[in-house]
Amino acid sequence: MHRLLALLLLLLAAPALAQGSAARLQAHPLEDPARGVIANRDAIVAALALRPGMVVADIGAGTGAFMAPIARAVGPKGRYIGVDIDRELVGLMRDRARSLGLPNVEVLLSRPDSVMLAPASVDLMVVIDAYHHFDPPEPMLASMRAALRPGGQLVIVDFDRRPESPKWVRGHVRADKAAFLREIARAGFRLEQDLAVPGLTGHFATRFVRPQGR
Ligand SMILES: C[S@@+](CC[C@H](N)C(=O)[O-])C[C@H]1O[C@@H](n2cnc3c(N)ncnc32)[C@H](O)[C@@H]1O
Repeated sequence: MHRLLALLLLLLAAPALAQGSAARLQAHPLEDPARGVIANRDAIVAALALRPGMVVADIGAGTGAFMAPIARAVGPKGRYIGVDIDRELVGLMRDRARSLGLPNVEVLLSRPDSVMLAPASVDLMVVIDAYHHFDPPEPMLASMRAALRPGGQLVIVDFDRRPESPKWVRGHVRADKAAFLREIARAGFRLEQDLAVPGLTGHFATRFVRPQGR
């Protein structure tokens, strides 16, 4: 009887809980429409040139702001994997995945030194406003490289720190673009090209490849 009552209460509370998590998600600073990568989300996703069937891992995915457009672009035969080290954000990502109801979404709580993905299992990794948080970056880069299939791509979108950047960028972002690109190349990725993302200012977007046969 008690169990039945508890179940009934849970069923009655479920819509309110769902509304609560949607509100928490909407209010989160990472969802701020004024953020460059949120304001230009469609242009960033377009620049990724996604194809149906691709397995895409979003490393440092935060609230999963890129989950829906990526999961839809890769379709039912592809997969979106949202990866983050922050338990609370991973919870919000899980809420978002549930409310979207997309079957091709996974959410993973990782470690600061590892993406914790299976070897050679990913076609494309995207790291959006998150690479500058990887400190030290070397263990993360090694685990990202191992999880990418040979020939797979890594796209970094991050703040382009310059002497004229806003003070908070100069204080918050630990190095400039050239230093980031050097670190990534040193970790065994081949630099391919800068991606054009119309409208996205104060950022760079650069594509790397895990070379075949290495
Ligand atoms: C500024 S947020 C960007 C979130 C999301 N990519 C976006 O643009 O909305 C940076 C994210 O990187 C995550 N992060 C920091 N270090 C990480 C690591 N070593 N592995 C995975 N995620 C990490 C943080 O928890 C945070 O969610």
